[in-house]
Amino acid sequence: MRDLVVAITGASGAIYAVRLLEVLIACGRTVHVTISPAAAEVFQHELGLQLDLNKIDEATLIPKPETVPETSPLRRLRPHPAAVSHNSSVFSDSEIYVGKMIYHHYRDFHAGIASGSFLTDGMVICPCSGGTLACIATGQSQNLIHRAADVHLKERRKLIVVPRETPLSGIALGNMKTLSDQGAVILPAMPGFYHEPQDISDLVDFVVARICDQLGVRHDLTKRWGTPTVQRG
Ligand SMILES: Cc1cc2nc3c(=O)[nH]c(=O)nc-3n(C[C@H](O)[C@H](O)[C@H](O)COP(=O)(O)O)c2cc1C
Repeated sequence: MRDLVVAITGASGAIYAVRLLEVLIACGRTVHVTISPAAAEVFQHELGLQLDLNKIDEATLIPKPETVPETSPLRRLRPHPAAVSHNSSVFSDSEIYVGKMIYHHYRDFHAGIASGSFLTDGMVICPCSGGTLACIATGQSQNLIHRAADVHLKERRKLIVVPRETPLSGIALGNMKTLSDQGAVILPAMPGFYHEPQDISDLVDFVVARICDQLGVRHDLTKRWGTPTVQRG
């Protein structure tokens, strides 16, 4: 089992990134994280979380609900899966693994993930802004996020891009087509409604579950079509 890369950029949907990190770490994965300055602005605006990109740790990105502002939608996510251990909605059996997060500044081209020699099981950009999408589609490695994505494409490793925009311009559609042709998975942050979501947590988990499926990370976050009930641990 190799490390994973999660890049967070300045599209709406910061809550998806928090939940994704929480689940991957609860599932025992080592996750390399990098964050654009625009993403930090969105974290502040959407989640009420102030990020100092020079100093990020797990507790900053996956805060305990009681430490975030009362108005933050993070308060409405179901409890931290690792914290509720055996009752977690993430696990389908009693095995509990705890992974870790390794943070890299978006300008640090010395980070391992900037090189193809650093082996990973894949990279997710969640959420992915139109700007980052364009930079990757045109091969502009202007920051560590673009560079790591380029590395995943050139090494023919899994790259999952989670755009959040509507409607889509022809330019964005063209950039998605370019990346898809290069082997990337375009996984828009578009929650379905067939799993009968009850709250924001269900909507967020729908998207995070699809990302985990693409990464091959085992989970029971949502009801699967063709199964009678949501399976919880
Ligand atoms: C609150 C907020 C929400 C935004 N939402 C989106 C969005 O959903 N999609 C998008 O492509 N850009 C969005 N933007 C604009 C991007 O943040 C901007 O284009 C930025 O340059 C992207 O930089 P990055 O790709 O390096 O993160 C948003 C900006 C702010 C402040």
